Amino acid sequence: MKNTLIAPSVLAADFANLQRDIEMVNASEADWFHIDIMDGVFVPNISFGMPVLEAIQKHAKKTIDVHLMIVDPDRYITTFKKLGADVLTVHYEACTHLHRTLQAIKAEGMKAGVALNPHTNVDLLEDVIQDIDLVCIMSVNPGFGGQSFIENTYSKVKKLKALIQRKNAATLIEIDGGVTNKNAKQLVDAGADVLVAGSYVFGAEDPIATIQNLKSITQ
Ligand code: DX5
Ligand code: ZN
Repeated sequence: MKNTLIAPSVLAADFANLQRDIEMVNASEADWFHIDIMDGVFVPNISFGMPVLEAIQKHAKKTIDVHLMIVDPDRYITTFKKLGADVLTVHYEACTHLHRTLQAIKAEGMKAGVALNPHTNVDLLEDVIQDIDLVCIMSVNPGFGGQSFIENTYSKVKKLKALIQRKNAATLIEIDGGVTNKNAKQLVDAGADVLVAGSYVFGAEDPIATIQNLKSITQ
Protein backbone atom coordinates (compact mmCIF):
# COMPACT_ATOMS: atom_id res chain seq x y z
CA MET A 1 0.00 0.00 0.00
CA LYS A 2 1.22 3.44 -0.91
CA ASN A 3 1.25 6.12 1.77
CA THR A 4 0.38 9.18 -0.26
CA LEU A 5 0.83 12.32 1.80
CA ILE A 6 -1.84 15.02 1.79
CA ALA A 7 -0.71 18.62 2.34
CA PRO A 8 -3.48 21.21 2.74
CA SER A 9 -2.33 24.61 1.48
CA VAL A 10 -2.88 27.24 4.18
CA LEU A 11 -3.11 29.94 1.49
CA ALA A 12 -6.76 28.93 1.14
CA ALA A 13 -7.49 29.07 4.90
CA ASP A 14 -9.64 31.75 6.52
CA PHE A 15 -6.98 34.12 7.90
CA ALA A 16 -9.46 35.64 10.35
CA ASN A 17 -9.86 32.15 11.79
CA LEU A 18 -6.37 30.85 11.23
CA GLN A 19 -6.02 28.99 14.51
CA ARG A 20 -9.33 27.21 13.91
CA ASP A 21 -8.19 26.14 10.45
CA ILE A 22 -4.80 24.96 11.72
CA GLU A 23 -6.53 22.90 14.43
CA MET A 24 -8.78 21.41 11.75
CA VAL A 25 -5.72 20.18 9.85
CA ASN A 26 -4.20 18.87 13.11
CA ALA A 27 -7.34 16.85 13.76
CA SER A 28 -7.59 15.53 10.20
CA GLU A 29 -5.80 12.75 8.33
CA ALA A 30 -3.61 15.32 6.56
CA ASP A 31 0.12 14.75 6.79
CA TRP A 32 1.72 18.14 6.14
CA PHE A 33 0.96 21.86 6.25
CA HIS A 34 1.82 23.47 2.90
CA ILE A 35 2.84 27.11 3.34
CA ASP A 36 3.05 29.40 0.29
CA ILE A 37 5.40 32.36 0.57
CA MET A 38 5.12 34.84 -2.34
CA ASP A 39 7.14 38.02 -2.80
CA GLY A 40 5.28 39.89 -5.54
CA VAL A 41 8.42 39.67 -7.72
CA PHE A 42 8.93 36.01 -8.61
CA VAL A 43 5.15 35.66 -8.79
CA PRO A 44 2.55 38.40 -9.38
CA ASN A 45 1.10 38.11 -5.88
CA ILE A 46 2.09 38.60 -2.23
CA SER A 47 0.80 36.03 0.26
CA PHE A 48 2.06 36.36 3.83
CA GLY A 49 5.40 36.36 5.59
CA MET A 50 7.30 35.63 8.75
CA PRO A 51 4.88 36.81 11.50
CA VAL A 52 2.10 34.70 10.03
CA LEU A 53 4.31 31.63 9.76
CA GLU A 54 5.40 32.19 13.35
CA ALA A 55 1.74 32.13 14.41
CA ILE A 56 1.08 28.99 12.34
CA GLN A 57 4.10 27.24 13.86
CA LYS A 58 2.73 27.76 17.38
CA HIS A 59 -0.30 25.62 16.63
CA ALA A 60 0.73 23.28 13.80
CA LYS A 61 1.40 19.72 14.97
CA LYS A 62 2.45 18.28 11.60
CA THR A 63 5.35 18.64 9.16
CA ILE A 64 5.70 22.19 7.86
CA ASP A 65 6.32 22.25 4.11
CA VAL A 66 7.35 25.74 2.99
CA HIS A 67 7.09 26.64 -0.72
CA LEU A 68 9.14 29.74 -1.45
CA MET A 69 7.96 31.64 -4.52
CA ILE A 70 10.58 34.33 -4.06
CA VAL A 71 13.68 35.54 -5.88
CA ASP A 72 17.10 34.80 -4.38
CA PRO A 73 15.78 32.43 -1.67
CA ASP A 74 19.27 31.89 -0.19
CA ARG A 75 18.74 35.10 1.81
CA TYR A 76 16.06 33.47 3.96
CA ILE A 77 17.13 29.84 4.49
CA THR A 78 18.14 30.35 8.14
CA THR A 79 15.04 32.43 8.82
CA PHE A 80 12.70 29.69 7.62
CA LYS A 81 14.55 27.10 9.66
CA LYS A 82 13.91 29.24 12.76
CA LEU A 83 10.26 29.55 11.76
CA GLY A 84 9.84 25.78 11.89
CA ALA A 85 10.17 24.67 8.27
CA ASP A 86 10.82 20.93 7.96
CA VAL A 87 10.83 20.95 4.16
CA LEU A 88 12.06 24.06 2.33
CA THR A 89 11.30 24.26 -1.39
CA VAL A 90 12.84 26.82 -3.73
CA HIS A 91 12.02 27.41 -7.38
CA TYR A 92 14.38 26.11 -10.03
CA GLU A 93 13.72 29.32 -11.96
CA ALA A 94 14.74 31.50 -8.99
CA CYS A 95 18.14 29.89 -8.29
CA THR A 96 21.33 30.65 -10.19
CA HIS A 97 23.34 28.20 -8.08
CA LEU A 98 20.76 25.55 -7.29
CA HIS A 99 23.26 22.96 -6.05
CA ARG A 100 24.65 25.45 -3.53
CA THR A 101 21.16 26.41 -2.37
CA LEU A 102 20.22 22.76 -1.81
CA GLN A 103 23.34 22.15 0.27
CA ALA A 104 22.61 25.26 2.35
CA ILE A 105 19.06 24.05 3.08
CA LYS A 106 20.33 20.61 4.11
CA ALA A 107 23.08 22.13 6.25
CA GLU A 108 20.28 23.72 8.31
CA GLY A 109 18.77 20.27 8.88
CA MET A 110 15.79 20.71 6.56
CA LYS A 111 14.65 18.58 3.62
CA ALA A 112 15.49 20.35 0.37
CA GLY A 113 12.83 20.77 -2.31
CA VAL A 114 12.86 22.17 -5.84
CA ALA A 115 9.68 23.44 -7.52
CA LEU A 116 9.28 23.51 -11.29
CA ASN A 117 7.03 25.93 -13.14
CA PRO A 118 4.71 24.34 -15.73
CA HIS A 119 7.10 25.24 -18.57
CA THR A 120 10.24 23.86 -16.91
CA ASN A 121 11.41 20.48 -18.16
CA VAL A 122 12.05 17.83 -15.50
CA ASP A 123 15.22 16.73 -17.35
CA LEU A 124 16.91 19.92 -16.12
CA LEU A 125 17.17 18.21 -12.73
CA GLU A 126 19.13 15.24 -14.03
CA ASP A 127 22.50 16.32 -12.62
CA VAL A 128 21.16 17.28 -9.21
CA ILE A 129 18.32 14.83 -8.56
CA GLN A 130 20.27 12.82 -5.96
CA ASP A 131 20.64 15.99 -3.88
CA ILE A 132 16.91 16.76 -3.90
CA ASP A 133 14.56 15.38 -1.23
CA LEU A 134 11.41 16.60 -2.98
CA VAL A 135 10.47 17.90 -6.41
CA CYS A 136 7.31 20.01 -6.47
CA ILE A 137 5.72 19.91 -9.89
CA MET A 138 3.55 22.99 -10.33
CA SER A 139 0.30 21.95 -11.94
CA VAL A 140 -0.77 25.62 -12.22
CA ASN A 141 1.27 28.77 -12.75
CA PRO A 142 2.42 29.73 -9.25
CA GLY A 143 0.96 32.82 -7.59
CA PHE A 144 -2.68 32.06 -6.86
CA GLY A 145 -4.87 29.38 -5.35
CA GLY A 146 -8.02 28.12 -7.03
CA GLN A 147 -6.69 27.80 -10.60
CA SER A 148 -7.43 24.89 -12.92
CA PHE A 149 -5.14 21.92 -13.16
CA ILE A 150 -2.82 21.68 -16.20
CA GLU A 151 -3.29 18.27 -17.83
CA ASN A 152 0.31 18.01 -19.07
CA THR A 153 1.27 17.38 -15.43
CA TYR A 154 0.64 13.62 -15.68
CA SER A 155 3.33 13.11 -18.32
CA LYS A 156 5.76 15.31 -16.36
CA VAL A 157 5.22 13.18 -13.26
CA LYS A 158 5.87 9.97 -15.21
CA LYS A 159 9.02 11.40 -16.75
CA LEU A 160 10.29 12.59 -13.37
CA LYS A 161 9.51 9.24 -11.74
CA ALA A 162 11.54 7.48 -14.45
CA LEU A 163 14.45 9.89 -13.87
CA ILE A 164 14.36 9.29 -10.10
CA GLN A 165 14.37 5.52 -10.61
CA ARG A 166 17.11 5.62 -13.24
CA LYS A 167 19.31 7.69 -10.92
CA ASN A 168 18.46 5.55 -7.89
CA ALA A 169 17.36 8.65 -5.96
CA ALA A 170 14.96 8.77 -2.99
CA THR A 171 13.25 11.99 -4.12
CA LEU A 172 9.56 12.51 -3.37
CA ILE A 173 7.26 13.95 -6.03
CA GLU A 174 4.81 16.62 -4.87
CA ILE A 175 2.00 18.07 -6.99
CA ASP A 176 0.84 21.62 -6.34
CA GLY A 177 -2.17 23.36 -7.89
CA GLY A 178 -5.70 22.42 -8.80
CA VAL A 179 -5.63 19.05 -7.01
CA THR A 180 -9.08 17.54 -6.38
CA ASN A 181 -10.68 14.11 -6.05
CA LYS A 182 -10.90 14.10 -9.88
CA ASN A 183 -7.14 13.99 -10.53
CA ALA A 184 -5.66 12.69 -7.25
CA LYS A 185 -5.71 8.99 -8.07
CA GLN A 186 -4.31 9.45 -11.56
CA LEU A 187 -1.49 11.61 -10.17
CA VAL A 188 -0.54 8.94 -7.66
CA ASP A 189 -0.68 6.27 -10.36
CA ALA A 190 1.72 8.42 -12.41
CA GLY A 191 4.15 8.53 -9.47
CA ALA A 192 3.14 11.35 -7.12
CA ASP A 193 3.91 10.97 -3.38
CA VAL A 194 2.58 14.25 -1.93
CA LEU A 195 -0.58 16.08 -2.99
CA VAL A 196 -1.06 19.74 -2.07
CA ALA A 197 -4.68 20.89 -1.99
CA GLY A 198 -5.80 24.39 -1.07
CA SER A 199 -9.19 25.57 -2.26
CA TYR A 200 -10.48 22.03 -2.67
CA VAL A 201 -9.94 21.39 1.06
CA PHE A 202 -10.64 24.76 2.68
CA GLY A 203 -13.51 25.58 0.32
CA ALA A 204 -15.28 22.32 1.14
CA GLU A 205 -18.31 22.18 3.38
CA ASP A 206 -16.58 19.45 5.39
CA PRO A 207 -12.79 19.87 5.07
CA ILE A 208 -12.01 16.92 7.40
CA ALA A 209 -14.11 14.56 5.27
CA THR A 210 -12.57 16.00 2.10
CA ILE A 211 -9.06 15.29 3.40
CA GLN A 212 -10.13 11.81 4.47
CA ASN A 213 -11.54 11.16 1.02
CA LEU A 214 -8.35 12.39 -0.72
CA LYS A 215 -6.34 10.18 1.59
CA SER A 216 -8.44 7.07 1.00
CA ILE A 217 -8.64 7.34 -2.80
CA THR A 218 -4.87 7.69 -3.10
CA GLN A 219 -3.69 4.74 -0.98
C1 DX5 B 1 0.07 28.31 -5.98
C2 DX5 B 1 0.43 27.71 -4.65
C3 DX5 B 1 -0.40 26.53 -4.29
C4 DX5 B 1 -1.85 26.87 -4.02
C5 DX5 B 1 -2.68 25.66 -4.29
O1 DX5 B 1 1.00 29.28 -6.30
O2 DX5 B 1 1.78 27.28 -4.67
O3 DX5 B 1 0.15 25.85 -3.18
O4 DX5 B 1 -2.04 27.30 -2.69
O5 DX5 B 1 -4.01 26.03 -4.24
P1 DX5 B 1 -5.15 25.21 -4.99
O6 DX5 B 1 -5.14 23.84 -4.45
O7 DX5 B 1 -6.37 25.99 -4.66
O8 DX5 B 1 -4.81 25.23 -6.47
ZN1 ZN C 1 2.48 25.92 -3.07
